[in-house]
Amino acid sequence: MRKAIQYIKDLLKSFSQALDTPGGITRWINNTWLDLKETGLNWLEERFRLRKPIEKILDKPVSGFERKWRHCFGGITLTLIGLQLATGVFLSFYYIPSVDQAFESIQMITDEVAFGWLVRGIHHWSAYLIVITMLIHLLKVFITGSYRPPREFTWVSGVLLLLIVFGFLATGYLLTWSQQGYWASRVAMGVAGEVPAVGSTILLFVQGGYVIKQAALTHFFTAHVFLLPVAVIVLLGVHFALIRRLGIQKPL
Ligand code: HEM
Ligand code: HEM
Repeated sequence: MRKAIQYIKDLLKSFSQALDTPGGITRWINNTWLDLKETGLNWLEERFRLRKPIEKILDKPVSGFERKWRHCFGGITLTLIGLQLATGVFLSFYYIPSVDQAFESIQMITDEVAFGWLVRGIHHWSAYLIVITMLIHLLKVFITGSYRPPREFTWVSGVLLLLIVFGFLATGYLLTWSQQGYWASRVAMGVAGEVPAVGSTILLFVQGGYVIKQAALTHFFTAHVFLLPVAVIVLLGVHFALIRRLGIQKPL
């Protein structure tokens, strides 16, 4: 405590000196900022010892061929997924997963909530953009032959990510509880229900009954805002851990 008081006293003293010298204030701000940054970082380092592990993660040289635009689409997809997670959490604050109120709650988000129209618009459009950027990414890794040994499991984790994104799209569409969303889900679930032997089990498990009503909306909502986000985060972790270990495949 005494140290902190002394520090503030010194700071005020140097400030009053800076006032008397031309250009002193700019220099004072710069020096104080550098000093605070260093003191803060040292304080954190003493308590958490994070400098080494962070340096280990960040100090990785990027070789020339990896700087090509075609390697950007995985990163762009990742950025869009981050955007979906952020906007999705905001939407969940206002969305009501009930057959009587879902549609009205979305109308309220669009018309009444501050910037709701913007957040919902971003969630809607970036959902479709993800499909485009992810498929371009898939095409690139296919053309560069990155599915071959030793990268088979990077490819497999990618395929699972693809399925999860489609899961997000399918469940998100029903959440709108609009005619379009409802009938699109009816068609998709109708197809799933026709699978020989396990069709009706799939229907019961996925939508909680033979027709789409409240149970289906609850299931889809839980999948969309809880199960799929957890799955996507875990799989992205696996995808990136493998890419970090194996590096990026040189073009064929
Ligand atoms: C890759 C990730 C995601 C994709 C592709 C996705 C996709 C979608 C789609 C297509 C819709 C229908 C939007 C519309 O047509 O208006 C939707 C709605 C919704 N999503 Fe997501 N979503 C994702 C992540 C999330 C997450 C992480 C959350 C929450 C934690 C979330 C919460 C919601 C909510 C509450 C709605 C209903 C509100 C509305 O329709 O505007 N989403 N999502
Ligand atoms: C949510 C979707 C995905 C994200 C966020 C993502 C992200 C990334 C990133 C950032 C990279 C490294 C840079 C690059 O090559 O672009 C990468 C590499 C890779 N991804 Fe994905 N990815 C996704 C989906 C997929 C899919 C659908 C596949 C294939 C089915 C796939 C297979 C691969 C492979 C094999 C690599 C290694 C590339 C190489 O060594 O050349 N990924 N991914």
